[in-house]
Amino acid sequence: MSTLAILEFPDPRLRTVAAPVTVFDAELKQFVADMYETMYAANGVGLAATQVNVHKRVLVADMSDERNQPMVLINPEILEKDGQQVYQEGCLSFPGIYADVTRALHVKVRAQDVDGNEIVVEAEGPLAVCIQHEMDHLAGKVFVDYLSPLKRGMLLKRMEKQRKASA
Ligand code: NI
Repeated sequence: MSTLAILEFPDPRLRTVAAPVTVFDAELKQFVADMYETMYAANGVGLAATQVNVHKRVLVADMSDERNQPMVLINPEILEKDGQQVYQEGCLSFPGIYADVTRALHVKVRAQDVDGNEIVVEAEGPLAVCIQHEMDHLAGKVFVDYLSPLKRGMLLKRMEKQRKASA
């Protein structure tokens, strides 16, 4: 396994729309293993393939405190969503910045596992946020897109400052 490089905003490749996965082979399994390793190494709760510059519909997540409940969703589609929640989100492509985003409280998602079997996942609360956030990445969308231009500008300026300070 190996960790993959994570693209950071405003890298234009984060705007790429991912293509469906059609081949479920050893290469895909290796890629998913690398995504888990990358997510855990970066202390993230979710990671979309888009963020490691692979433009296929694959996301991984683990919202557990123990970091022992890995989930992979391939070709995820939202079947149902309802309710509303506001949650403070962060993103591995936006180091050090966090912002409140409003999303559905509950989602029902159909996806495939690494072997291509269909799975249906129902999630609520933080896991539902995570799945919606990562699915956005696969569509070339990022969480700051939901913010007002003013708020977004402030956060991105802060991120740029931190980047310069740590360079
Ligand atoms: Ni993200």
